[in-house]
Amino acid sequence: MRYKESQCLYKRAIECIPGGIYGSKSPGFTVPGQFPYFFTEGEGCRIKDADGNSYIDYLCGFGSMILGFGNSRVDDPAAAQLRKGDLLNQPAPVMVELAERLTGLIEGMGWSVFAKNGTDATTLAVSLARVHTGKKRILMAKGAYHGSANWCSTNDFPVLDEKIHVHTFPYGDEAALEELFHRYRDEIACIILTPYHHPTYVPQILPAPSWYPKVESLCEKEGALFIMDDIRANFRLSLKGSHHYFGAKPHLVTMGKSLANGYPIAALMGTKELKSTAGGFFITGTFWTSMVPMIAAMHCLDVMEEEKVQDHVMRVGKRLKEGLFQAAAASGYAVTLSGPDSIPYMNFDEDPDLFLNQKFSAAMAAKGVYLHPHHNWFLSLAHKDSDIDETLEKAAEAFREIRTGA
Ligand SMILES: Cc1ncc(COP(=O)(O)O)c(C=O)c1O
Repeated sequence: MRYKESQCLYKRAIECIPGGIYGSKSPGFTVPGQFPYFFTEGEGCRIKDADGNSYIDYLCGFGSMILGFGNSRVDDPAAAQLRKGDLLNQPAPVMVELAERLTGLIEGMGWSVFAKNGTDATTLAVSLARVHTGKKRILMAKGAYHGSANWCSTNDFPVLDEKIHVHTFPYGDEAALEELFHRYRDEIACIILTPYHHPTYVPQILPAPSWYPKVESLCEKEGALFIMDDIRANFRLSLKGSHHYFGAKPHLVTMGKSLANGYPIAALMGTKELKSTAGGFFITGTFWTSMVPMIAAMHCLDVMEEEKVQDHVMRVGKRLKEGLFQAAAASGYAVTLSGPDSIPYMNFDEDPDLFLNQKFSAAMAAKGVYLHPHHNWFLSLAHKDSDIDETLEKAAEAFREIRTGA
């Protein structure tokens, strides 16, 4: 059986870990029984599961791996520092170097603080916005993901009432947004948005040209802050930040995932005007100043700059999207490939329960290609044209198989 070891491990896990594997990594979020649950190693764009099966990976550590697994230009200096110590009480010089580098690079941002997870950064961002404006209400798009903290997570337990000041609107609906700003006049601290809408299960939505000007004018009129949550798209659109790519002007930007090619680090950045508010806020975490991820981030930035990583991931992503569209059509399926080319996702048209999506993803997993059925995909510098060719060959077979039931 292809996933025997994964399933044995899962049985053991549910005895000692609530849910066995929790959150977005739960087997229930893939195709239970037809996907690997545990992985052991990765190299370039290929990963190996606990049963020894290997895959061309299009989830890239949920986006964190942008250069390829085991990139020696990042891992060698990180490993060398690890042997000399990672968390030495006070921050290392590299923290200053990384903050200087990011403020020079990310458009409009004048300072940076570091944390571990994206959730740390988004939660800090909304707290700072509240403190800075003296207002409580937060606006976010329906179906947007900003982390696992109670103010924004999918946990809906009445006793966790952190959401009472959080209001949602359909992404891109300017009238609905305007109505919320009107209804809560003088009470809105901030709006938090991802650069484009990447909900789970459904096609991704790019912003209309009028979206950011509208958001910015409403914020300005009402004295609210605009937070760009760039944790997922981070560096797959632009080295200057995804807001630069879309021509938006946020007050705060959160980053994470691909900043250090898989090492745990997130950043919150802000405009110069917000620096004293941030300076007066208690920001800390035992591991938030650990230096290995910061060293990894510096080297990751070097490689991203030198290799023009955005051009590469856009180009191979475009090939993947176009190839999948054609392969699907050849088997009589209409599919929608949505999102930026470097962060695509595929839905079968007229497949609201995602039945075909799951069959296709399971067939691809069995052929050694990891295409998540419910979460958007990611391209990396390690995805070469030959990997795309191999993926498309296997996709053509998978589409044929699900069409014929073979
Ligand atoms: C847009 C966005 N914001 C925040 C987060 C939370 O980041 P983390 O899982 O590192 O806490 C994620 C994670 O997927 C994300 O995609």
